[in-house]
Amino acid sequence: MYQSGRDQVTVRAIRAGLTYLGAYAPNKIITNEDLERTLDTSDEWIRTRTGIRKRHVAADDEFTSDMAIRSVEDLIARNGKSAIEGVELVIVATNTPDAFFPATAALVQNHFELQAGGFDLLAACPGWIYALSAARAYVESGQFSKVLAIGSEALTKVVDWEDRATAVLFGDGAGACVVEAVPEPFGFKSMVLGADGSGAQHLHQRAIGSRLPNGEPLADRVVMNGREVFKFAVRVMRTATIEAINKAGISRQDISLFVPHQANLRIIDAARELLELPPEKVVVTVDEYGNNSTASIPLALKHAFDDGRIKDGDNLLLVSFGAGLTWGASVLTWGNNER
Ligand code: ACO
Repeated sequence: MYQSGRDQVTVRAIRAGLTYLGAYAPNKIITNEDLERTLDTSDEWIRTRTGIRKRHVAADDEFTSDMAIRSVEDLIARNGKSAIEGVELVIVATNTPDAFFPATAALVQNHFELQAGGFDLLAACPGWIYALSAARAYVESGQFSKVLAIGSEALTKVVDWEDRATAVLFGDGAGACVVEAVPEPFGFKSMVLGADGSGAQHLHQRAIGSRLPNGEPLADRVVMNGREVFKFAVRVMRTATIEAINKAGISRQDISLFVPHQANLRIIDAARELLELPPEKVVVTVDEYGNNSTASIPLALKHAFDDGRIKDGDNLLLVSFGAGLTWGASVLTWGNNER
């Protein structure tokens, strides 16, 4: 019988978790009243149909890579430079990269002089959950010990500002987190990723790149069938969250905070009611930011954390949906012994 070197090998499973967080929203704000002046719409329509009051909009010379970098700067300002020391991989989830290539992640890597690889990931609004899932897999497999997962979005640069059905919905911003090993009981408990390309025609933008030279117009802008996306969103927010809760081996009552994608307050409320969660367990920031896609959940998490709504040991339920159609959900236990 062949026996390898040691008699007994103890393999300790690595558990990945989210350790540091930062976020950024541009200073420029466009209110519903501002939109009333340029579109056939009203503050009342936008508020009652979506819950949105305003949206933060990137400056003319501010792009997805700039916002990604600012979200990491916020992460450093909160946690110190050591928070990103040893990062081996940068993932930027975005639908609006500055350009088709190079990857936005490479620009972030270069800015912070990281000895790291980097790639962009496109999975529409759930992209940040997809990035968390990839980061978790890299860390738990032992391939990388520290991954920077960013969601950054400049959707207002690709939206048709003359189309009231979409222009009122979107905003810009970025969020970043570090994923690395954490001790029990912290870390990711479940991941759910899904896609259904049969609904691809309901939401798309066929041109690529948000940083076109000198205001050159894009060939195509965001096109959306709002009603279809709405129906899909309500359905999938429920099924994906229940799957994530079941996979995590917990019950709905164990959820401390629900942090959904911030697209529409009616979609969030419908999901909350289906999950039978009280309003105080739900994070809502759509009124302030509109839908900033991959940035929406990390920005919402940052707000909840700053408001003292998240403490170590809390079970957070994240869920998102978007073009593709795609969806993603995760349960994670917040905390890191060293924080
Ligand atoms: N102001 C005033 N009226 C408007 C506006 C507006 N901004 N937009 C549409 N309307 C009108 C429509 O023309 C329509 O008029 P009609 O009845 O005379 O035809 C009426 O309002 C109702 O339109 P609906 O589309 O039925 O309105 P609905 O209640 O469905 O709300 C909305 C529209 C807010 C877009 C909703 O469908 C929605 O939120 N859908 C989900 C969208 C979403 O979340 N997309 C993001 C996905 S994430 C990603 O990947 C980027």
